[in-house]
Amino acid sequence: MTKAFIVGHPIKHSRSPLIHGYWLKQLGISGSYERIDVTPVDFGNFLETFHERGFAGGNVTIPHKEAAFAGVARRTERAERLGAVNTLWVENGVLWGDNTDVLGFMANLDLSLGTGWEQDVDTALVLGAGGAARGIVAGLQDRPLERILVANRTLAKAQDLVGGLERHGTARLEVLAWEDLDRALPGSQLIVNTTSLGMAGQPPLTLDLARAPGRAIVTDIVYFPLRTPLLAAAEAHGLRTVDGLGMLLHQAAPGFERWFGVWPEVTPDLRAMIVADLEASR
Ligand code: ATR
Repeated sequence: MTKAFIVGHPIKHSRSPLIHGYWLKQLGISGSYERIDVTPVDFGNFLETFHERGFAGGNVTIPHKEAAFAGVARRTERAERLGAVNTLWVENGVLWGDNTDVLGFMANLDLSLGTGWEQDVDTALVLGAGGAARGIVAGLQDRPLERILVANRTLAKAQDLVGGLERHGTARLEVLAWEDLDRALPGSQLIVNTTSLGMAGQPPLTLDLARAPGRAIVTDIVYFPLRTPLLAAAEAHGLRTVDGLGMLLHQAAPGFERWFGVWPEVTPDLRAMIVADLEASR
């Protein structure tokens, strides 16, 4: 039986065990995927010993993604570019790390909007400058955009993010002061929230979406609640919206394939199960 895990601190609220458990059952694979709570002090030891303890690998979440990056022996090019690792496995005795968050974000956009959506987008506006924003900006750099604007409450963090990513592809990277957000809306055809604003218990993200172009796409990586105040406002303005759950579902697939040997499908049934679980915990 193959065993995998998600390691983080805290880890109680992670939906990943539900996703992987669903796939194991659907595919008739004898395996397990469990939550493991490990504090930052113990994380180094966990990395060194999980394989001996019988695990094939697993996912890494907050706050260990940078420590996992530093602690693995080999990394995929994607992980290298991002400085963060969310997927671990052992190959010929060597500990590997990958980052599948970007893949999840981009797959979610491609599948929700249809490939070629970039044709309507010259400028992407990314709100926030944490780890998630960094991955998303890197993912957008692979697409033929003209400009990626990064706006953050703390401007210095946006400057660090932009300064730390190498030029890649066609898009110019620029920072934007938080106060200038609304002014940038008319020229932004893709708007991405990566901040914690709009999450249950947090204040909403309020943008003057009346100023956004009519075909603008608004997406949120917050998925609890699924329909954030930002997405609700975008819908009210007739804009196209993509919610944050797809990213979570799609980032899980590459790890599942590494550990259990089969590429799993993100089905409407899986999505419905996670939505029901989120609803039940409201
Ligand atoms: P992650 O790595 O998951 O993206 P993070 O590093 O905690 O998480 O980033 C959270 C983001 O939400 C940051 O961009 C943060 O802005 P600051 O860098 O200024 O802290 C943003 N954020 C959190 N609360 C906010 C608020 N009330 N207004 C504006 N931005 C906020």
